[in-house]
Amino acid sequence: MRSRNIQPLLREVTLTKNDLIAPLFVDENITAPRPIDAMPGQFRYPVNGIAGAVQKLWDKGIRAVLIFGIPKEKDPEARSAYDPDGVVQQAVRRIKAEVPKMVVITDVCACEYTDHGHCGLVGETRGGMDLLNDPSLELMDRIAISHALSGADIVAPSSMLDGVVGSIRAALDAEGLEEVLIMAYSTKFASVLYGPFREAADSGFSFGDRTTYQLNPGNSREAILESQLDADEGADILMVKPAGFYLDILSEIRNIGLPVAAYQVSGEYSMIKAAAANGWLKEKETVMESLTCIKRAGADLIITYFAEDVAGWLDE
Ligand code: PBG
Ligand code: ZN
Repeated sequence: MRSRNIQPLLREVTLTKNDLIAPLFVDENITAPRPIDAMPGQFRYPVNGIAGAVQKLWDKGIRAVLIFGIPKEKDPEARSAYDPDGVVQQAVRRIKAEVPKMVVITDVCACEYTDHGHCGLVGETRGGMDLLNDPSLELMDRIAISHALSGADIVAPSSMLDGVVGSIRAALDAEGLEEVLIMAYSTKFASVLYGPFREAADSGFSFGDRTTYQLNPGNSREAILESQLDADEGADILMVKPAGFYLDILSEIRNIGLPVAAYQVSGEYSMIKAAAANGWLKEKETVMESLTCIKRAGADLIITYFAEDVAGWLDE
């Protein structure tokens, strides 16, 4: 038996606040924070409340946030997504004005801004109505540029369009925004675990599903190839999403050599919350174990809705 005094010295992986990124939802349609039913403890914030929420995270030692927007208007072309006065653009300007050192990452996608709920432009394809890859690239470029001009430090394309990372990189560079980094949702599975997020971000789709542009959970070589392609296109940070069910993928993608982020998604959050609320699992211990294991598997960064709680627990 190892002595309890020696155990801490032999510990291989320790979670720190610098590992964590907190996702936040900003809703242009509300004037007070609104709880997200499927994600107990999480809220949508109004535009004028977002900087306060970010300040609170900063005070607890969280140094990066990932911003999602819920706009007033949705249309087939996601026009509100690249409006200079759109919800994310306003939110980023306020955060940067009030908490300038917080690293601000923005989700670059169309699904919260399209009335059909898909991640880009849709139209007839050989297989019926579906996402149109190439026509959607220019839309992603516009969204990324407008986020960057509003002050985002990192843009995170989550649409899984082929060529989106290369396209955004070229577009940012052409605008003189070379210093803005790209965190690619490079390996994103078509997962049931995004269920609660669709309520959180109001991004459910009106027809079809995302299996034509997200990865099959059973495919590992394809998953690794997707991240390699994004690395080749100029991604600065790769991402595996969801996290906990996909640790084998994470540990392989680490070998590509770029920093790797893992996204502990809404369903992973809600499962732990539900079990804890029923007294079936201890919340803090479950969260700390899940995140430690995600780090052990290879994540340099972890996007988690538990970020604020974890910061508090690390201080205890
Ligand atoms: C949008 C997006 C989704 C998530 C992050 N960005 C939903 C989806 O792809 O359907 C999910 C995050 C979560 O479940 O916490 N493309
Ligand atoms: Zn999307």
